[in-house]
Amino acid sequence: MNRVDHATGPADLAGERRVIRPKIPYVGTPVFLVATGNSDGSANLAPASSYWALGQMLVLGLETDGQTIENLRERPELTVNFPSGSHWEAVERLAALTARDPVPPAKADRYRFEPEKFAAAGLHTEASDLVAPPRVRECALQFEAKVRRMTPGWSDDYVLVEAEVVRVHAAAGIVAEGDHIDPRAWQPLIYSFKHYFDLGEELGWTRSSPTAPAVSDAR
Ligand SMILES: Cc1cc2nc3c(=O)[nH]c(=O)nc-3n(C[C@H](O)[C@H](O)[C@H](O)COP(=O)(O)O)c2cc1C
Repeated sequence: MNRVDHATGPADLAGERRVIRPKIPYVGTPVFLVATGNSDGSANLAPASSYWALGQMLVLGLETDGQTIENLRERPELTVNFPSGSHWEAVERLAALTARDPVPPAKADRYRFEPEKFAAAGLHTEASDLVAPPRVRECALQFEAKVRRMTPGWSDDYVLVEAEVVRVHAAAGIVAEGDHIDPRAWQPLIYSFKHYFDLGEELGWTRSSPTAPAVSDAR
């Protein structure tokens, strides 16, 4: 697959600036896999990365022509599953697939219809507790969520989905004392300008971090 050989170093970042217009200002967000319920009771799975969270609310940016948004309009429950760096190829196996039949015209040259996305990706389902769609077993961090509001985007091609997290499942290996995620153990897959990355090295922490070494040492 699209591997990097790491032969080149970072570019000179201090020199001349250019005014550019990238196709998408996709600076870098975690990849997540959204599982939703199809009308026949099966589950759909789609990779996405347009995401932010505040409190227990997630805001997802989802394309209007996908099966995922279609499912959420009818059955407003989902799971949001976060793969790690080691899962990037499974994510990429989903990149050209849609469960929408027929494939929307705008995607016809880049996508093919696939109803069995879990199998196509080599991923497995795990039953959820509070919502109908399953979780992705391979993901160390999984949210069960319910849609609370959908707002049309400024342009017709996306919808803002506000979903409340109703249950969090975390692999024991990434949980720190006090119900916190251990940021040193948890390594989300990052998507930046259409390339996949690991998180990279830790640089520091904010002063209120509950998992900072000074706090745990003082306990
Ligand atoms: C890494 C990655 C990130 C993506 N991010 C988004 C996103 O944030 N929102 C979105 O709607 N689609 C995103 N897509 C594209 C969807 O996965 C694609 O539209 C797919 O058709 C959705 O499947 P569905 O039609 O079965 O719902 C992304 C794809 C990849 C591979």
